[in-house]
Amino acid sequence: MKTAVINVSTESIAQAAALIRAGQLVAFPTETVYGLGADALNPAAVLKTFAAKNRPADNPLIVHIADLSALPQLVESIPPQAQKLIDAFWPGPLSIVFKKSTLVPAETTAGLDTVVIRFPSHLGARQLITAAGTPIAAPSANRSGNVSPTTAQHVQEELGGVIPLILDGGAIEFGLESTVIDCTTSVPTMLRPGSVTQEQIEEAIGPVRVADEAEKPASPGMKYKHYSPQTPVILFTTPEALPAALLARPHKSCVIYHTEALTELGDASIPISHNPTDAAAELYSVLRQADTLGCDAIYIETFKKTGVGAAIMNRLEKAASDFIG
Ligand code: TXA
Ligand code: MG
Repeated sequence: MKTAVINVSTESIAQAAALIRAGQLVAFPTETVYGLGADALNPAAVLKTFAAKNRPADNPLIVHIADLSALPQLVESIPPQAQKLIDAFWPGPLSIVFKKSTLVPAETTAGLDTVVIRFPSHLGARQLITAAGTPIAAPSANRSGNVSPTTAQHVQEELGGVIPLILDGGAIEFGLESTVIDCTTSVPTMLRPGSVTQEQIEEAIGPVRVADEAEKPASPGMKYKHYSPQTPVILFTTPEALPAALLARPHKSCVIYHTEALTELGDASIPISHNPTDAAAELYSVLRQADTLGCDAIYIETFKKTGVGAAIMNRLEKAASDFIG
């Protein structure tokens, strides 16, 4: 199959919407990462996303809406805590778990009786959903287990030849997948950290629980290895420990760093912003770049686990096979 890559415009959105209505897949930009869209209410279309990504059948999809009026028919009820989160953060990079209505097919939720709903702030994404006239189920537009795409070029690398159309909206704004929070539990549970931070959520609704990933995975996707370049990733917490570690393991290394003093280390070094919000937007591009260098290992400097830094570290710890210092 030939994959067209077309800039977001009124015409390309109409073309993409027609494909969605016809049960086909379209990749499109959102404010977090690029998504692989299908009609969320069409079981056959939804199953195509699993096939295209080679996604495990037990990993449910997020359903995207472009208007609050689309929500009530997709969910059994809107708990008060969820309503507060909607008021505070929608549209934006926060996805909320609800009990699902019978309208949502089991294929979309991988058989669960809950559904995750997301109302993106990205204009092109919203125009696509509106034009399609149906909620759009969209996982990140990468092969399962790989790094999520933050440019149309990344999507082309992941799914070129497999899907008919990629809408190109340029680089994304946030760069990490949306925060996922479960409001079906008595105390809301954060299942996936993201650019809407735990601190911001707690300011809006009070204390939340953070899912312990060692427990039975509440978010099925979190149990799979994720966000990984092909090259082994090693995290380093203390920059001072890095030079000795590099000497002790003579192999070709790439160092991703945000401490100025580390510029010259390793066979290749790639800077990333020290500010976590900027680093989040750069991270997946930098990981892909590092992966093309033919190194034996990618060393990445860790971030403090507060605010957006917590979301960055969640992704890095999933990608990493080792850490030093
Ligand atoms: O930012 C995002 O959320 C992007 C863009 C495209 O919107 N989408 C995305 O989708 O990251 P995906 O499929 O890569 O990640 C969805 C996550 C998975 O960890 C999945 O297990 C979880 O949400 N999830 C989906 N439905 C769920 C449910 N009913 N209960 C618990 N977790 C659920
Ligand atoms: Mg994903």
